[in-house]
Amino acid sequence: MFSESQVYLAPMEGVVDHLMRDMLTRLGGFDYCITEFVRVVEQLLPEKTYYRICPELRFGAKTPSGTPVRVQLLGQHPEWLAENAARAVDLGSPGIDLNFGCPAKTVNTSKGGAVLLKTPDVLYEIVTAVRSAVPKDQAVSAKIRLGFDDKALALENAYAIQQAGANLLTVHARTKVEGYKPPAYWEWIAKIRQVIDIPVIANGEIWSKSDAERCVEQSNTPHLMIGRGALALPNLAACIKFNQNPMQWAEVKQLLIDYSGYEIFGDKGRYYPNRIKQWLGYMKRQYSEAEVLFNDIRRLQSANEIVQVLRH
Ligand SMILES: Cc1cc2nc3c(=O)[nH]c(=O)nc-3n(C[C@H](O)[C@H](O)[C@H](O)COP(=O)(O)O)c2cc1C
Repeated sequence: MFSESQVYLAPMEGVVDHLMRDMLTRLGGFDYCITEFVRVVEQLLPEKTYYRICPELRFGAKTPSGTPVRVQLLGQHPEWLAENAARAVDLGSPGIDLNFGCPAKTVNTSKGGAVLLKTPDVLYEIVTAVRSAVPKDQAVSAKIRLGFDDKALALENAYAIQQAGANLLTVHARTKVEGYKPPAYWEWIAKIRQVIDIPVIANGEIWSKSDAERCVEQSNTPHLMIGRGALALPNLAACIKFNQNPMQWAEVKQLLIDYSGYEIFGDKGRYYPNRIKQWLGYMKRQYSEAEVLFNDIRRLQSANEIVQVLRH
C-alpha cells in the first residue's frame, strides 16, 4: 500500500530541530523533512538565520542519514518572501516550503500562517512571487489547513496555490479553529485532490500504521506527513513504509540516551532538560513507561541528573 508513498517529517517549531531530525531520520522511513518556520517580516534575513534553523545546509541540506531537508518560510509579504526564498535556495535548500497553516496568535496579528487562508488571492500572490524567485528545477511547496474559521475556501485555496505554480501541497486536515482536536478530516483531502493535479501530502492525526492506512484510503493520496506521531513512536515512518514493528521501550530508552549525548554536547545543551521532558510528553501516548520516566525526572533541572535516571 505504501510503495509509492513519500513520507514527510512534519515541521514542528521548538520541537523538531536538526537533532530531532537526525534522531528520527536515522530510524528510516522518512523521505523528506521540512524545517521549523523562518519568520519573514520586511527584511532579507542574514545567512546565519538560515544556518541556525537548518544547520544541514552546511552538509548538502541532508540529515546525517541522507534525508533531504527543505526550509520553510512564514510571512505575508510576497516580495520579502520571494527574496528570502531565493536566499535559502542559494544556501542549498532543495526548494522552499510556505507555511499557510500556523495558528499561533502572534503569527496571525503579524499576518502569516493560517490567517492567509481567508484570502486566496493573497496566497496566489505569495506563491507566484516565490515561484518566480526560485529556480525552475527547485520545488515550491505549501502547507495549509482546511481553512481558518470553516472549510468554505478549502478548494479555492488549494486551486490558487496550484495555479500560482506550486509543485506540492501538504494539507493538515483541520481548520485553524479546530486546532489540534481530533479528528482530522482526511476526506477533505480527497475533495482537494479532485480540483488540483499536483501531488498532495496528507497530514494530521497519524499515530499508527493503521491510521496511515485509513488516511491513505480516505484522503486518496499515497503521500503522508507525520509530526506528533513520530515523536510518540519514533520508528513510525519505518512501521508504515517497511512494515517494522513498533520499537520496544528498551530501544526507545537507548534512543533517549543517544539523544541526551547529542543535546548535551551539541550547541543546545541548556535546553536539554526541557527538550527531553517535552519528548517524553509525546511518548506517553505510546509507552506507559514514558509516563513513569517523566514523573521521575520532572523536577530535575540538570542534564547529568536526568541522564543518570535514564541510564538506571
Ligand atoms: C509544537 C508544534 C509546532 C509546530 N510547528 C509548525 C511549523 O513550524 N510549521 C508548520 O507548518 N507546522 C507546524 N506545526 C504543525 C505540524 O506540522 C502538523 O501539521 C500538525 O502537528 C498535525 O500533524 P500531526 O498530527 O502528525 O502532528 C506544529 C505543530 C506542533 C504540535
